[in-house]
Amino acid sequence: MTEKRSLFQQLHSYGETDYYPYHMPGHKRRQLGEIPEQLLKADITEIDGFDNLHQPEGILRRLQESANALYGAAETFYLINGSTGGILTAVSAALPRGGHLLMARDCHRSAYHAAYLRDLKVSYLYAERVEGFDFNEAVTPGQVEQALAKEPDIGAVLIVSPTYEGRIADVEGIARVVHRRGIPLLVDEAHGAHLGLAEGFAPGSCTRGADIVVHSVHKTLPALTQTALLHLNGDLIDREKIRRFLHIYQSSSPSYLLMAGICDAMEIVERRGRERFAGFRQRYQRMTECLRICRQFCFVPWQDIERGRQDIGKLVIHTGQSGVSGKWLYQTLLERYRLQCEMAAGNYCLAMFTMADEEEAYVRMERALLDLDGQLTRQGCGGPNEHAPDKHVEDKYAADLLKPVAAYSVAQAWDMPWKMTRMSDAVGCPAADFVNLYPPGIPLLVPGEVLTESLYRRMTDALIKELTIQGIEESDGEYFIKTL
Ligand SMILES: Cc1ncc(COP(=O)(O)O)c(C=O)c1O
Repeated sequence: MTEKRSLFQQLHSYGETDYYPYHMPGHKRRQLGEIPEQLLKADITEIDGFDNLHQPEGILRRLQESANALYGAAETFYLINGSTGGILTAVSAALPRGGHLLMARDCHRSAYHAAYLRDLKVSYLYAERVEGFDFNEAVTPGQVEQALAKEPDIGAVLIVSPTYEGRIADVEGIARVVHRRGIPLLVDEAHGAHLGLAEGFAPGSCTRGADIVVHSVHKTLPALTQTALLHLNGDLIDREKIRRFLHIYQSSSPSYLLMAGICDAMEIVERRGRERFAGFRQRYQRMTECLRICRQFCFVPWQDIERGRQDIGKLVIHTGQSGVSGKWLYQTLLERYRLQCEMAAGNYCLAMFTMADEEEAYVRMERALLDLDGQLTRQGCGGPNEHAPDKHVEDKYAADLLKPVAAYSVAQAWDMPWKMTRMSDAVGCPAADFVNLYPPGIPLLVPGEVLTESLYRRMTDALIKELTIQGIEESDGEYFIKTL
């Protein structure tokens, strides 16, 4: 088997041979249903010559080494269970059972799940709002320093950068602060697998001092869903523990299609990255210039991208003073223009762009937004309508709701007996389950945290606006949550 050929090419060649499969998977590479035969032929298990992800010594080891050369990490692991598996592993390996984790409140639920599984004590970093917008910044070195000063037993720090909306943290500054304490910095860079790979893009956290970086290859590079990478640097984290937890959290039958997909994405970056990333940046910049004439919608300024504070791939379309909500904009782009965005929040809608987009992606978005912006202007927008988010309400509750107090740790609370309680009667009670506002799924309540009056009103408000909330159940027009 030659090293130069991609994993997919090798799988494909193998599928054309006359080796008969007396092994898993059960489809035996034969099309009995609707899965395309080409996929079935490449869907093998750890047969001779194809290595083993849980003990890589051949092709998979070489592929992991070339991925770590690309990102500049000391060691890289292929993940077939998304960043979810990577974050579970990173947090579990970085702290002993019962350890103390400092993490950004906007961490993905996998971080909370790791805290549950490892019985961790958790303290939170609460990011500021981005000035002029209704979403959060990444956390700052100052916030991390303050939190570490207050709680000297913190054993690891986990941040998200870029955030869902594309805000990029000062990872170097945070790493300095964290390393002064001799503890590791873990960066959930799930949305930034493309960072640091080309000129004009912000550097990635692998080269900015992070001890562990987790990338979802599938989010921002051309790869199959579920593909991800975990990168390791320095010696603050025991590598054997990383391996142990990867064995625990990942399937013992990793999909070769997914691994071939990671290999393919890395090769696209190596072979065509320079040209495609340059085109992506240029075209994206032209789009933002073109959209500057909008009178209703607002966008994160291009300077933030130049300063490395905002990711290029996330176009946050803020509804500004138009009076329409993010959800209305999302729905209108979908129904009227057939543009499917990534998500809608109270006052904005988010569209993602990657190196795989062609001219059509930009032209259609520009036309739709200019068209809608013009219509709203002609209608004399600026006043509220039924879809409009009530800014007053959001501001009034923001500070308060962001910091619910925990009566129990997530590990204690999630295993305690619970009951369904009418939401209005639940004020003052500790939650038994998460209440997440989707997307992006930042928890309003974590198991063990007490429902406050303002948080209750904020949740009611989100229900009225038909935002997606997970953890609240409706029965006969009444809302219930799980309480202890
Ligand atoms: C910030 C962040 N981290 C991690 C994840 C999990 O990534 P994956 O879907 O690759 O498991 C997500 C998923 O949306 C995310 O938004």
